[in-house]
Amino acid sequence: MNKERKESIFSRYNATRRNRTLPVLKTDKDLEAEELARFSLDLPSFQVTEEPENTIMSSDVTTNECNTDDDQPILHQSIKPPIRKKRLEESTIVARHSIGFDVPGAVHTIITPKLRTERQIDSKLVVIMVGLPARGKSYIVKKLRRYLNWLQYNTKVFNVGNLRRENEALHQYDQSADFFDPNNKDGNKIRDELAIKVLERLIEWLRSGGRVAIHDATNSTIQRRQLLIDRLSKEPDIKVLILESVCTDKMVLERNFRLKLSGPDYKDMNPAKALSDFRHRVANYEKAYDSVGDWEEEHDIQYCKLVNVGKKVIAYNISGYLSGQCVFYLMNFNLAERQIFVTRHGESEDNLLGRIGGDAPLSGKGRRFSRALSRFVRQRRIAFALDLAKRKIQEESEAKDPLKDSDDESQEEEHKDAKVRATAEAINNSQFTIWTSMLKRSMQTAEAFDPDEYDIKHIRFLNEINSGSREGMTYEEIKAQYPTEFKARQENKLFYRYPGIGGESYIDVIHRLQSMIIELERMSQSCLIITHRVVLRILLGYLLEWSQTQMPHMLVPIHTVYELRPKPYGVELTSWYYDEDDDDFKELKGDSPQS
Ligand code: F6P
Repeated sequence: MNKERKESIFSRYNATRRNRTLPVLKTDKDLEAEELARFSLDLPSFQVTEEPENTIMSSDVTTNECNTDDDQPILHQSIKPPIRKKRLEESTIVARHSIGFDVPGAVHTIITPKLRTERQIDSKLVVIMVGLPARGKSYIVKKLRRYLNWLQYNTKVFNVGNLRRENEALHQYDQSADFFDPNNKDGNKIRDELAIKVLERLIEWLRSGGRVAIHDATNSTIQRRQLLIDRLSKEPDIKVLILESVCTDKMVLERNFRLKLSGPDYKDMNPAKALSDFRHRVANYEKAYDSVGDWEEEHDIQYCKLVNVGKKVIAYNISGYLSGQCVFYLMNFNLAERQIFVTRHGESEDNLLGRIGGDAPLSGKGRRFSRALSRFVRQRRIAFALDLAKRKIQEESEAKDPLKDSDDESQEEEHKDAKVRATAEAINNSQFTIWTSMLKRSMQTAEAFDPDEYDIKHIRFLNEINSGSREGMTYEEIKAQYPTEFKARQENKLFYRYPGIGGESYIDVIHRLQSMIIELERMSQSCLIITHRVVLRILLGYLLEWSQTQMPHMLVPIHTVYELRPKPYGVELTSWYYDEDDDDFKELKGDSPQS
């Protein structure tokens, strides 16, 4: 029965219904309206009534209340509470803040001026980094920024070293190791001034709407931390988390030291000279280093001490929601070198028909892709194991003699080769995990992998976006039948939530993938994730730090595999496509995915 006819029969029946015990018949439109009403109960807009002095604040949900064509549901993906302008005094309108628990796009908090003064507000967070040079601070802050931005908390890193280098060029003062000697009064003064200057920029940014700001410097003395905290205490509504990175692992330290040689301070210097200057600089810092602890506890300042990037974590007085999120994240990552493959399932029967959602099986082509995928992953694992083994052995010999030229080692070559082979074999035999969603097309794509060789898990969190009452439709059908809705989604894909039971938005999917990201960071083995378009965009969005505006529009075709290798300076990406004629994978040269 077509929709119009069903509606007209139902409405005639309901209007003439004499026996009140008979059920009211509900059309799709009624059901959607009911669902909207149910959803709406959570929204502050329905709670603004009597109290003109109350200002209703929604968390970072964008405005988009939209009545659609007559026969279409009201879109409720993102709704701004209707503030009754006439009855609100200017002075009662406070900035958009939230108290404690806050998840952008999922939590709405009602705030009154009274609450604002009486309760603790965890609206903005400043993370003050602490640590000697080469302790992985910049690595940690970049990861933290990526994670928090991905969760929609606007986060920015403010690096003091960059300003120091700009100033060095401007004022031409010498910044070799002696500049960092605690007995160098001028050096100390300049460094404190730079730290404060960066802090002022950071505060300015928070005032203009930023949410989490990270002060990235050594901040290695109590005197310096006091300076920063005194200044921050003058700002209302800012919480501080001190985050110290300690590294005692000699191999990691040596690797970090070598990385510094190609960094901005030393890249144009002779490596031997650079290394000696850098060691001298670190020794100068060590002379006056105050590890985080007693002083912070005396002043009840929340802190987190990370030893060897998450191996050991000490947390004190973690009292804000955002700080708790940061600490939880930091507890869960490691520096293991590994491969992360991410792909969509093989072509499904619904893909052939252009239908969204559903639970269709693979097509013939999809099955061929799945078999080729298992061969391909095996080859790439071997290539990676060899690569890593070579580097490990190189690093071991460099750790013994940091400036040894690899060309000098010809007589050791044979011995080295055997060692590389043995190490590569061990790496290749280590555990490899495969995650799929719980939908047929994704599970079937993993069927060519031997479960005795691979640790295979089907995970509901990885299911495709639920398109509610639009499941099984084509985009053309949605566009023709629900044009306003179609347009609204194009305009705000991130927050648009499909109508109907279980319908989701990208933001909803981000929240259900949070535990997957934590697990991905926690585990140290390589893995292959076989999932769907939206989930893949969101996962790659996290791994490659795509902006929230570009992420929902990135082109991520089926039969393309993204191979990622996390590195100290970011993530290396290689993209591969399945060549059906050759029944094999070819590298997609050049670009990373485009929108
Ligand atoms: O068409 C495949 C599919 O995975 C659908 O199931 C899903 O609704 C769609 O892609 C998501 O892509 P977009 O967000 O671009 O509509």
